[in-house]
Amino acid sequence: MPFVTFEGVEGCGKSTQLALAAERLRRAGRDVVTTREPGGTPIAEKIRAVLLDAAHTALEPMAEWLLIEAARSQHVREVLRPALARGAFVLCDRFADSTEAYQVGGRGLDPTLVAALDERVREGLAPDLTLLFDLAPAEGLSRARRRDSGAGRFEAADLAFHERVRAAFLAIARREPDRVAVVPAGGAVDAVFERAWHVLARRFGSGPS
Ligand code: TMP
Repeated sequence: MPFVTFEGVEGCGKSTQLALAAERLRRAGRDVVTTREPGGTPIAEKIRAVLLDAAHTALEPMAEWLLIEAARSQHVREVLRPALARGAFVLCDRFADSTEAYQVGGRGLDPTLVAALDERVREGLAPDLTLLFDLAPAEGLSRARRRDSGAGRFEAADLAFHERVRAAFLAIARREPDRVAVVPAGGAVDAVFERAWHVLARRFGSGPS
């Protein structure tokens, strides 16, 4: 029941990499569940739409965080726990590290408060492995803005915010090197995938060969 999360700044390519990993794992005969945060259940996807709506400029950092935790609560109960319990290989696009990077690093919320509630909401659930796709925010944002044609609420935040997010992700990787693998995300999609796959194969042995 491996639980693997894909993290990184806007436009780092993690969602593409997740889809490639899922395809390769399925070809190797694995029962794979792909999901994302915020989202992954009907209720959590509605919360996601509120969070990403660029018109919601008045959304307070505290309200933003609590909505993310509300969505996570649904997701843990409805998707993550059942999938892991049946032994699936779960690939999740963003999870708790994004909360530490965006809400604590980016927005400046109290790390102790955030960690305490988040731990409760996760019910102790933590990834076995996290792939952190590292890219300069300026590069990621221009990719993301091209892709989305019109920025979402997070993409609209200034570069300094995204630099703090990146720094917070890298600090998590330094703190938990056994769990978090930093994958340089610049260059061609295929080259990045080879790096990511190498980490997955090394961690999970012959399974995802
Ligand atoms: P995505 O576009 O990469 O799927 O992510 C949606 C946005 O949600 C992204 O801009 C980051 C934000 N986010 C947080 O701020 N905190 C969190 O805990 C999560 C999971 C996402």
